[in-house]
Amino acid sequence: MAKKNQTLGEFIIENQADFQYSSGELSRLINSIRLAAKVVNHEVNKAGLVDITGAAGEVNIQGEDQQKLDVYANDKFIQTLTNREIVCGIASEENDDFITICGQKEDHNNKYVVLIDPLDGSSNIDVNVSVGTIFSIYRRVTPMGSPVTIDDFLQEGNQQVAAGYIVYGTSTMLVYTTGHGVNGFTLNPAIGTYYLSHPDMKFPEDGNIYSINEGNYVHFPQGVKDYIKYCQTEEGDRPYTARYIGSLVSDIHRNMIKGGIYIYPKSSKASNGKLRLLYECNPMAFIAEQAGGKASDGYQRIMDLKPTELHQRVPFFCGSKNMVEKAEEFMK
Ligand code: AHG
Ligand code: MN
Ligand code: MN
Ligand code: MN
Repeated sequence: MAKKNQTLGEFIIENQADFQYSSGELSRLINSIRLAAKVVNHEVNKAGLVDITGAAGEVNIQGEDQQKLDVYANDKFIQTLTNREIVCGIASEENDDFITICGQKEDHNNKYVVLIDPLDGSSNIDVNVSVGTIFSIYRRVTPMGSPVTIDDFLQEGNQQVAAGYIVYGTSTMLVYTTGHGVNGFTLNPAIGTYYLSHPDMKFPEDGNIYSINEGNYVHFPQGVKDYIKYCQTEEGDRPYTARYIGSLVSDIHRNMIKGGIYIYPKSSKASNGKLRLLYECNPMAFIAEQAGGKASDGYQRIMDLKPTELHQRVPFFCGSKNMVEKAEEFMK
């Protein structure tokens, strides 16, 4: 039973039975994520003071200029998730290939794989706007005792055992699900403790916010153009309000609280859009659905797509159920 102002530590212990295979490992895994999030939070908060803003000088596998904080957050999360006898493999937006972790006894007996977007919205760092972290957790599918393979990472989103995000905003929050609803915890930075501030988060069924990078309008498919016009037409509770931060985590977080839709469609410039199925769309889709919202590629449920490659991109429609369904009607 979620109690407001309970600490995250207390909550994890109390809800351990929620985990399908409750051996305590998944609880420890969430624990290590909250720890890494604190370390990254500390660094993000002083980004303007120390030499940690700006480009790192490398281009990642996504073809993006890596920011220093992309690299820092990636290193911190990988470090924290390694050597705890829980995680057997990590795939990250920032790494070309997945990492194999064998456990201290070199036995490959760890059970979980983690997929991560260590720093989401990294173009916002230099201008002091909210960024985030997204994580997605699966049980390995290959036999224990052997190194992980690509099959452990290319699982459908509907196989996730947990997913969450951290938003480094006006407050830092960790929001996660293990398939039993969504709960949000706010960090008290003075004492380094997260408290349950948003129990049982729910996407309003309807909303009046639409979030899309309209600068790309000319490149959008006709269905998306028509839906944007629908959002802007004066009728009933429309026109809707446009809000777009450019950080998926922050945009979804706001829409989950206020009611809205987030769209990153395909375009004539990018045939599958921009967002990554494994590190961004699947975990956000799991959270959205657990909060009563919806996530699709415009046609099909995101979590039922069969991934074919690690860094696969996919169009993303996510938010309040009725709004996503309306947008899907325009896509037909
Ligand atoms: P990341 O910083 O992890 O590469 O992700 C950036 C993503 C996402 O956070 C955001 O919603 C989107 O890119 C913004 O893209 P545009 O600038 O093309 O709108
Ligand atoms: Mn990136
Ligand atoms: Mn991202
Ligand atoms: Mn990122």
